Amino acid sequence: MAARGGRALLALCGALAPGAPAAGVRRRRRLQQEDGISFEYHRYPELREALVAVWLQCTAVARIYTVGRSVEGRELLVIELSDRPGVHEPGEPEFKYIGNMHGNEAVGRELLIFLAQYLCNEYQKGNETIVKLIHSTRIHIMPSLNPDGFEKAASQPGELKDWFVGRSNAQGIDLNRNFPDLDRIVYVNEKEGGPNNHLLKNLKKIVDQNTKLAPETKAVIHWIMDIPFVLSANLHGGDLVANYPYDETRSGSAHEYSSCPDDAIFQSLARAYSSFNPPMSDPNRPPCRKNDDDSSFIDGTTNGAAWYSVPGGMQDFNYLSSNCFEITVELSCEKFPPEESLRSYWEDNKNSLVRYLEQIHRGVKGFVRDLQGNPIANATISVEGIDHDVTSGGCFCRGLEALGGARSMSPCCGRRGSLLLGPPVSLPRSRPAASVDFELESFSERKEEEKEELMEWWKMMSETLNF
Ligand SMILES: *[C@@H]1O[C@H](CO)[C@@H](O)[C@H](O)[C@H]1NC(C)=O
Ligand SMILES: *[C@@H]1O[C@H](CO)[C@@H](O)[C@H](O)[C@H]1NC(C)=O
Ligand SMILES: [Zn+2]
Repeated sequence: MAARGGRALLALCGALAPGAPAAGVRRRRRLQQEDGISFEYHRYPELREALVAVWLQCTAVARIYTVGRSVEGRELLVIELSDRPGVHEPGEPEFKYIGNMHGNEAVGRELLIFLAQYLCNEYQKGNETIVKLIHSTRIHIMPSLNPDGFEKAASQPGELKDWFVGRSNAQGIDLNRNFPDLDRIVYVNEKEGGPNNHLLKNLKKIVDQNTKLAPETKAVIHWIMDIPFVLSANLHGGDLVANYPYDETRSGSAHEYSSCPDDAIFQSLARAYSSFNPPMSDPNRPPCRKNDDDSSFIDGTTNGAAWYSVPGGMQDFNYLSSNCFEITVELSCEKFPPEESLRSYWEDNKNSLVRYLEQIHRGVKGFVRDLQGNPIANATISVEGIDHDVTSGGCFCRGLEALGGARSMSPCCGRRGSLLLGPPVSLPRSRPAASVDFELESFSERKEEEKEELMEWWKMMSETLNF
């Protein structure tokens, strides 16, 4: 195990080792360093170097992988932190942070690099909160979904960066308008009947063949489809607010509160982020720019569409195509603020980033098994009163703001292979996920039973009628 790990490690180090940085860069960096965190902008080679440093420091709980490449060939790198890196453990929920989807929105990219280093440091120090988190969660951190855009934005001379340069990918595509617009489908289904979840189930091929989708978009769609994420945040810049679904209005108007069926838990999730970020949750904070309309902001949170309608965004795509609940966090009024301010952004967001991650353990989770104890894949879990189902791949996790008591939690016999949980009642924020295991009859077991019932009926009839 050690030898194998060692070899892989050396190989990757060789592949990722950037050219030796100039002496000046090194000196400056050391001044800014604290606990291995360098509060500076990381260009692409430095981003790789920083992630490798975390991995080398925390090899037992870290792993680096890539989900694909940008248009210009940069890797979409992810660092994973988990007690079993690379392995999905049933019952352990999966979380992701994505930064820098708009390449010129740079704060999220840096905060995620700092976060990876921080989690590794605290894990090594034996910080109980972080040890528990890493042992009970599989955490995926992607500092940049648009590395090409970042390089373009960062290579502008001087501290003042243009508001738009580097926002799009190298093909000029705005990645946060590039996802299949599943809101439109679900809005039709709400009226005419139709599925309320996993709307992309039969459309994988269409995604691959769609030439309008950027390679970065395709890569992240596959990532969302392949890993059973249950909670996520997408980090942006240009304002200061935690934004939750839906992002697109039902009527097509520019602003309109557009609640999704899980409005209650989403409000609470957004608050879990904003409430630990003092400037974000400050009710007296003036708008980022004098003429900005912040009237939809409440305690540093907003419904996306109430602020302004966004079609084809990643946040709603997660919710409507998978079991993953995602919010979008705007971290800073400035998209590319001066380097000296990065440390204070970290201070403002450190607790929020950890507290939001912890939210993954709220709600309800459990295993769905057949009567022989085998996990049932593809069971549907419905909650009374919430028109959005999640599915199980044996186990499931579902964020809920409120949850029925043990009695009303007992599944009610609905469709074959599906569970209905009782109506939610109030659930304290601090309470960890209620764990419930369900037994469902699998289809083959049901067949066996039906056969037996038929045999018994036949026996009874023949006895009664005496033939
Ligand atoms: C452990 O980590 C938590 C979460 O980030 C933090 O609030 C706490 O201060 C840390 N404890 C110590 C002793 O540093
Ligand atoms: C889940 O259902 C899909 C079709 O709806 C099927 O392709 C897939 O194999 C099923 N997965 C399992 C593990 O049964
Ligand atoms: Zn953005």
